[in-house]
Amino acid sequence: MMNRATSAKVAPLDDLGDWSAGPGPLFRQLARAIASGIERGALAGGAKLPAERSLATMLSVGRGTAVAAYDLLVADGLVERRHGSGTYVVGNGDLALPAGREGTALVHRLVDRSSAASSLDVIDLSISVVAEPAGFGRASLAATDLAALVPDTGYSPWGLPALRAALAAHVSGWGLPTTDDQIVVTTGAQQAISAAAACWVRPGDTVVVDDPTYPGAVAAFAAAGARLVGVPVDRHGLRVGELEEAIRSSRPALVYLQTTVHSPTGSILGEHRRRRIAELVAEARVPTVEDLALADLAWSETRVPPPMASFAPGAAIAVVGSLSKLFWGGLRIGWVRAPSAVALRFARVKATQDLGSSAVSQVLATQLLAGGGADRAIAERRRQLRLRHDRLVTALGRELPSWSWSEPAGGLSLWLRLANGVRASAFAPIALRHGVAVATADALSPSPERWPDRLRISFSSPPAQLEEGVHRLARAWAAIASGP
Ligand SMILES: Cc1ncc(COP(=O)(O)O)c(C=O)c1O
Repeated sequence: MMNRATSAKVAPLDDLGDWSAGPGPLFRQLARAIASGIERGALAGGAKLPAERSLATMLSVGRGTAVAAYDLLVADGLVERRHGSGTYVVGNGDLALPAGREGTALVHRLVDRSSAASSLDVIDLSISVVAEPAGFGRASLAATDLAALVPDTGYSPWGLPALRAALAAHVSGWGLPTTDDQIVVTTGAQQAISAAAACWVRPGDTVVVDDPTYPGAVAAFAAAGARLVGVPVDRHGLRVGELEEAIRSSRPALVYLQTTVHSPTGSILGEHRRRRIAELVAEARVPTVEDLALADLAWSETRVPPPMASFAPGAAIAVVGSLSKLFWGGLRIGWVRAPSAVALRFARVKATQDLGSSAVSQVLATQLLAGGGADRAIAERRRQLRLRHDRLVTALGRELPSWSWSEPAGGLSLWLRLANGVRASAFAPIALRHGVAVATADALSPSPERWPDRLRISFSSPPAQLEEGVHRLARAWAAIASGP
C-alpha cells in the first residue's frame, strides 16, 4: 500500500549524475536520469519528487523542461501525479540502500566515467586526479619478483616488509620519525580513511572534519553512519578556536583534518596551529586522522612544518599517506602511520576489508620509491602542477576576471568564489550543459550552505584541457547572466 500522506518528505534528487551532458533534448535527458534512479532503487516506490517549479530551480532549467520530463515519466508508468499532493514514484524500491552508502555526486561521476559505455564530451575539472603516471621509467615486474615475496601467499594485511620500510623512510623525511612497525599499507589513502572510520566510528557518532574538505572523507564517514560537524578552514588552515569548541560541545569519536596540503583550498597549516591542535586532540583523547595524501605537492619554495603527529608522539593520531598523487592513482597504494598498538588495530580492520592490498602494486611501488625515485617524482609533479596551476589562473584571469580565490601553496585545486553572489549549485548544472564538470560544496562540506558561491576547480588536467574548460565556463557564465 502506498503512503498517500501529503506531507511526505521530498526526495532530494541529488543522485542524477551528469544528467544534462548527453545528446537529445533536455527534458528527455532529465526523464532518463530520473528513470535510471528509479530503476537502480535510489528513488524508492512512494518517494515524493520535487514540485516542477522547485525541480526547475534546483537544476537551473526552465519549468517547461521539468513539466515535460515528468509527463514522460507518467506516460512510462514510472511516476504518478496525485491531485493536490504532488508527484510520486511508482514501483518498488527493493534495491534502495541506506542513506550515505553510495557516496556523493562526485563518487557517482567517478563510477560513471570508469564504465566503458561512458563517452561524454565533458572536461572534468571536478576530480583532482593526475592522469599521467610519473617515475615509472625503470619499473618492471617478473614472476620471480613475486616468488620471492614474504609472505609467499601475497596476502599481507600489514603490507610487504620492503614497502613498509620504504614508506617509513618517506614519512621520516617529512619530519615524523617512523619505524616499519608503525606502517600499514592500504589500498589507497581512501581505504585508510575508511579503516579509521571502521576502527573508531559507530553509527550516530560525531566526526569533526575540516570544512570544506576532501569529499572521499565525507563519503567514508557518512557511510559509517556518522554525524559530521565541520570546522571552517581559512587561508592558514583549520581555525583552532572553533575546533576546540567543536570538540568540547560535540564530543566527537574522531577528528579528520588535512595539514599539508589542504584540499580544496591549497593551504598549509602553520606550525603554531599544528602544535595547538596536537595538544588539543591529545588532551581530549580524540582519535585523529591527519590526511597527508597531498603532502608531497607543496610548491617547492614553500616551507612545510613537520606533520602535526610529530607534536604529540604518543597520541592516537593516524597519519594517512598516498602514492596516488606522486606516481599514479592506479597503483592504489596508500598507508597509515600510527603508534604501533594503533597500527596493529588498523592491520586487523584492513584484513576484514580486503585481506591485504595488491602484492603486484606493492612490488612496483617499492621499486618506484627506491634509489631516490620519490625525490625525482616529487620534483616532476611539482613542476607539472605549478605549470598547470599557472595556466588555469591565467585563463581565469583573462576570461572570468570577476571570480576570486586565495592563492594555493600547492595541491591540485582552487577554491573559487563566484562573483555577484551567484549560487554555485545553480551554476554547476549550467556549466555541465556547456561541457565542463566542477565540484560544489555539496560533496565537500557537511554544511554546504556555508559556501553558497564556491566551486572547487582542479588544475590536474593537461593545459589545453584547462584552457578549453575555462572557455566553456566563461560561456556558461555568460548564459547564467542572461537567464535560463
Ligand atoms: C586529500 C585526499 N585524501 C585522500 C585521497 C585518496 O587518495 P587515494 O587515491 O590514495 O585513495 C585523495 C585523493 O584524491 C585526496 O585528495
